[in-house]
Amino acid sequence: MSESPPGTRDRGSSPRSGGALAHPTLWATFSQGEKGTGGDCEPQTPARTERSGFNGVLIVGCGDVGRRVARLEQEGGLAVTALARSEDSARQLQRLAIAPLRGDLDDPGSLSRLTVQGQILHYLAPPPGEGEGDPRIGCLLARLRAGNLPAVVVYISTSGVYGDCGGAWIDEDQPLDPQTDRARRRVAAERALQAWSADTGVPVVVLRVPGIYGPGRLPIDRVSAGRPLLREDQSPYSNRIHADDLAAACFLAARRGRAGAAYNVSDGNPTTMTDYFNRVADHAGLPRPPQIGLDEARRVLPPAFLSFLEESKRLDNRRMLADLRLTLRYPDLDLGLPACLAG
Ligand SMILES: NC(=O)c1ccc[n+]([C@@H]2O[C@H](COP(=O)([O-])OP(=O)(O)OC[C@H]3O[C@@H](n4cnc5c(N)ncnc54)[C@H](OP(=O)(O)O)[C@@H]3O)[C@@H](O)[C@H]2O)c1
Repeated sequence: MSESPPGTRDRGSSPRSGGALAHPTLWATFSQGEKGTGGDCEPQTPARTERSGFNGVLIVGCGDVGRRVARLEQEGGLAVTALARSEDSARQLQRLAIAPLRGDLDDPGSLSRLTVQGQILHYLAPPPGEGEGDPRIGCLLARLRAGNLPAVVVYISTSGVYGDCGGAWIDEDQPLDPQTDRARRRVAAERALQAWSADTGVPVVVLRVPGIYGPGRLPIDRVSAGRPLLREDQSPYSNRIHADDLAAACFLAARRGRAGAAYNVSDGNPTTMTDYFNRVADHAGLPRPPQIGLDEARRVLPPAFLSFLEESKRLDNRRMLADLRLTLRYPDLDLGLPACLAG
């Protein structure tokens, strides 16, 4: 990776696309929000964060969501590089005008050419599938020392770090109580990043993300197969975010996220898990799946699915809305699901 090509430095992040914009509500509010922050006319408003002047963007974990983030960053005028584990991933990135950098977080030696000085680092790679820690993030952070420091890191975590909250509304001050190894790995990654940030002075912004939905990632196969759901009155709350709104949150978090802060990134309209599957069925024109009680569910449903049924919480997203000043494009499923199924 090298310096950004001439003419691609951050120019205040206004969209430069001639065609349809990836997230119109982001661009409709972004430049307005920039002008309206702080200043003499708003003396009571606490100081707001507004970073700019980035050298470019590095995305680590440039899959479905990462590519949406890349498109927003490109529309904002920045050159985007992304880590690619394989030739195939590299080719796919090139087709999206993303510069691929070959490397694998499971192979420290492969990261020797990774440079990110003055850039936004969006980290969206998952931890490994086993253990209670996240050696992948450790591997990357070991590369990021004086002379090779990003301007800011945005880290995608999960709302699983809160564990079961008995269906209560929770904000980001809720104590972390991970109840699965999957969630413990995320807590370990968040802590490793905060320690690295204290060491280097680079701001880190953590986004705690619930179920991501979007085009091509609805549970259509499960619903079509008629696999049973938990009875509505026993079903836990689930929280969701559309992949495009999550990408917009990443974009804004780099610029407006407070250093060291965590944000619940959800649409603010949790409903039960059973309601979610039923609404997917309704919007897709499929029959609603049958419902079973918890005892039977424990016998017949796969353990991975059951682990999601054993935690219930409702995510308060007000900190995200206030600090990032994100106008959600899909604040509920009735707006988001048709957009996923269109075309
Ligand atoms: N699914 C959900 O509802 C949910 C909820 C909360 C949080 N999340 C998290 O949100 C993040 C983004 O999700 P997504 O759907 O965009 O994921 P995705 O499409 O599966 O993309 C993941 C990316 O991570 C890269 N990656 C995986 N292991 C790697 C390694 N060892 N070294 C380098 N790169 C590696 C992959 O690279 P290649 O392309 O080269 O294979 C891929 O580009 C993930 O961390 C996910 O766990 C998901």
